[in-house]
Amino acid sequence: MTTAPAPALDEVLRALDEVEDPELRRPITALGMVGDVALDGGRATVPIKLTVAGCPLKAEIQRRVAQAVSAVPGIETVHVTMDAMTDQERTGLRSGLSGGLARTSPFASDDSGTVVVAIASGKGGVGKSSIAANLAVILAGGGHSVGLLDADVYGYSIPRMMGVTRRAVMVDDLMMPVDAHGVRLMSVGFLTAEDSPVIWRGPMLHKALTNFVSDTYWDEPDFLVVDLPPGTGDVSLSVAQLLPKAAMVVVTTPQLAAQRVARRAAAMAERVDLAVAGVIENMSWFVAPDTGNAYEVFPGDGGESLSRELGVPLLGRIPLEPAVADAGDLGTPIVTSHPTSPAARALTACAAALVNALRPRAAAEG
Ligand SMILES: Nc1ncnc2c1ncn2[C@@H]1O[C@H](COP(=O)(O)OP(=O)(O)OP(=O)(O)O)[C@@H](O)[C@H]1O
Ligand SMILES: [Mg+2]
Repeated sequence: MTTAPAPALDEVLRALDEVEDPELRRPITALGMVGDVALDGGRATVPIKLTVAGCPLKAEIQRRVAQAVSAVPGIETVHVTMDAMTDQERTGLRSGLSGGLARTSPFASDDSGTVVVAIASGKGGVGKSSIAANLAVILAGGGHSVGLLDADVYGYSIPRMMGVTRRAVMVDDLMMPVDAHGVRLMSVGFLTAEDSPVIWRGPMLHKALTNFVSDTYWDEPDFLVVDLPPGTGDVSLSVAQLLPKAAMVVVTTPQLAAQRVARRAAAMAERVDLAVAGVIENMSWFVAPDTGNAYEVFPGDGGESLSRELGVPLLGRIPLEPAVADAGDLGTPIVTSHPTSPAARALTACAAALVNALRPRAAAEG
């Protein structure tokens, strides 16, 4: 019987180079998360320094490290110890991540390659958040890196729709978006205790949104989808200021009244100098879950006439389908849970039309 030669330290370190932090998506070695690795024959001891002591991804990081190191030939046991970074190490990491401690919107600068899409409507309950969540998941599924910013600070619903129950990790004062369904999310819901009322007003509100945009480690995604609150209030104005290159998508339902309200959102876009990329009509017809039969529920052609009026494309019409709401409640967007359902197909078509509508813009921005 021959015993394998004892592994060399640099083989173990090379294996650790392949381990990424699940949230920062960088090798843990580059993030300064690995302490002094000790080797004793086939026994490796790997000290890991977490960005925060109670890191919710602790177990996952531990699993990744143990798996990578135990794959090194000759390693028999791996002992992973977990500790937290010192304040100084954390500050170093934070400034390394954000390129200094500058507090500016990374999406406002001319060299930002991120296409920002804000989902708006003058009216509540028309499906903005459901559409924002599903579009983000579709874009991510198409191979793009995607951030989803829940700008509905009072009535946030993105965490539930995306199935996230944990809170966001802070590295020093930089917030880490939470990963779900391939999308990186940030929401007030990740910062406050569940169901506690959010009471920010005026300047505080603007400050909170500024934090979400500037003090979050978005890592230059291809797309940033922003879920706006209903109406054309302070939040929307703040968002326009922080994300001056955002294109707006206006959501309406078929009825004339909804269309009239949706028009207000478009008027606001104009006032704050944001482009409207298109209109999405939601709840356009009803799909019976038992028979699959389609029924017109709301009379009208709100999406069509609004898009004509605004001179922008109608990106699509989405049926009212109970599975959309169920999927949202269960935290798995319908495009993931029922990708072949009529609503999921319609949403997928909307995403394609949106990318198409944004293409000249993205190209012009280089
Ligand atoms: N196409 C659809 N079919 C069935 N249910 C839908 C559809 N679109 C949205 N819903 C449901 O309607 C409700 C409102 O949707 P959603 O929260 O997305 O709207 P919203 O415009 O973001 O609302 P708010 O203005 O309160 O933020 C949710 O329960 C959602 O699951
Ligand atoms: Mg909403």
